[in-house]
Parts: sequence; C-alpha cells; structure tokens
Amino acid sequence: MPEELAGTVALVTGASSGIGEATALALAARGASVAIAARRKDRLDELAQQIDGLALEADLTKRQQAEEAVGRTVEELGRLDILVNNAGVMLLGPVVEAPLEEWEQMLSVNLAGLLYCAHAALPHLLQAAEDGSREVADLVNISSVAGRVARLGSGVYNLTKHGVGAFSESLRQEVTGRHVRVSLIEPGAVETELSSHNRPEIREQIAQRFGDLERLQAQDIADAIVYVVTRPRRVAINEVLVRPTEQTF
Ligand SMILES: NC(=O)c1ccc[n+]([C@@H]2O[C@H](COP(=O)([O-])OP(=O)(O)OC[C@H]3O[C@@H](n4cnc5c(N)ncnc54)[C@H](OP(=O)(O)O)[C@@H]3O)[C@@H](O)[C@H]2O)c1
Repeated sequence: MPEELAGTVALVTGASSGIGEATALALAARGASVAIAARRKDRLDELAQQIDGLALEADLTKRQQAEEAVGRTVEELGRLDILVNNAGVMLLGPVVEAPLEEWEQMLSVNLAGLLYCAHAALPHLLQAAEDGSREVADLVNISSVAGRVARLGSGVYNLTKHGVGAFSESLRQEVTGRHVRVSLIEPGAVETELSSHNRPEIREQIAQRFGDLERLQAQDIADAIVYVVTRPRRVAINEVLVRPTEQTF
C-alpha cells in the first residue's frame, strides 16, 4: 500500500468501533502515526497494538479530557497533521416526550466534543500546514445524510449534524487560506454499533425503515477519508456524501 502519509500524525476520535476504528487502520496503513481517542480503553488498547498507535482514553464531552487528548497526541507523537472528528451518537425518536438525557448526550458528543477537539487541534494543524513536509493539514468532520436532510423522528440528531455542517463551512472559509483543509463527510447507513444505543422501540423502527438494505461498511467511509486527506496540497475536498447504493432516502 502506498505510504502517502508517512511522517504525518493523525488523531481519530471515536476510534473504539465502527468508522473511527476503520479510519485509524486505514490512515496507519498509509504510513501515518495515529492517536485514537474514545472511552472504551480495552478496545483502544487492542487497536493501538495492531497499528502501533497511541491509545487515549477520553470522554470527549469533558473539555479538559478533549484538550488532553489533543495535547498528548502532540507531546507523544510530535505534531498533528490530521484530525478526524468522528465520535458521535445517534439517539432517535419523536420530539414529544423524548428523554432529555438523550438530547443532552447528542449535544455533548456531536457538538461540544467536536468543538473542543477542533479548538484544541487548530493551532497545531495551522503549525503543521506551515512547517510540515506536506505544507497542508486536514480537519475532517463526520456529519451524516442527516446533516443535509431533516426527517421526522431524528430532530435533535438532525440539529447536531446540520450544526457540524454549518460550523465546518464557516471554519473552512477562515483557515483554508492558511492551508488547513476542512472537510465534511456525510455517510448514509453504515453497519456499525451506532443504532444499538437506541431504546428498543426505536431500534425496531430503525430496523423497519432500513429493512434489508445493504449498508455501507465502515471501511467504505474510511476509504473516502483517506482519499480526502491524501489529495495534493492544491485540492480541498470540502464535502463528501456517501450513501449505500440501495438507499433512496
Ligand atoms: N453508522 C451510520 O450509519 C452513520 C451514518 C452517518 C454518520 N455516522 C456518524 O459516524 C460517526 C461514527 O459513528 P459509527 O457509525 O462508527 O458508530 P459507533 O461504532 O457507535 O462509533 C461511535 C464512536 O464514538 C465514540 N464516542 C461516543 N461517545 C463518546 C464520548 N463521550 N467520548 C469519546 N468518544 C465517544 C464511541 O466510543 P466509546 O463508546 O468507546 O466512547 C465510538 O468509538 C458518528 O459521528 C456518527 O454520527 C454514522
């Protein structure tokens, strides 16, 4: 496999499963040194062993832990060229009488956690764009089809992912002139643990809606992320929408 990312350092959040795990593997296979952050330390340790990476146990909804995850990446791996802001939760269901804790969790992980990581990482990404051998750095935010289309039953998830899209575009305008590329990845249905955290009746509704549609694999999204971060310095892929072929909505 070509080692286009040799000499770079990447931090992938939410890398204990699903898209984050596949992305960490894919970036490491291209030669990047990879730090991986999430709460489940056992899963991170296993992955870190496979990729000779840095496991960072962190609840990214806590500002200090998010800042420490970025700080330790730079201290221990020497720099930061790529941040993949992937950690997220999707707790669906009607707005009326929704458990507020579910909304609080989505706002905390999908928005606050992503913002803390971006804020802590940006000075290092700007530095990498200035003095790194690639002379460019990447901030990749993981949104969703739900960040483009609002649907009944996913109001607050829609809110968080539309927010990620708006923030990414504003930030892109701010830092692209300094060669930090801000990219938004918008997956459709991917076979991961994401929907398993929903209440049983909601899981049932999700299962019915998606039926036996052939879902994307986490690797398919990792492929898109690798494509984005391995473009020549002059090319910024701002937005990538990837649906399963059979997904009509
Ligand atoms: N699967 C899909 O169909 C789909 C579609 C569109 C977009 N997405 C987006 O893709 C991203 C990854 O999701 P996935 O599908 O790969 O699901 P997943 O397997 O459930 O992964 C979610 C990751 O987020 C981490 N996470 C959750 N809360 C956290 C917290 N407080 N602090 C740190 N890490 C936390 C989890 O790790 P710990 O539990 O170990 O902390 C896990 O590694 C999410 O942003 C999701 O919205 C997924």
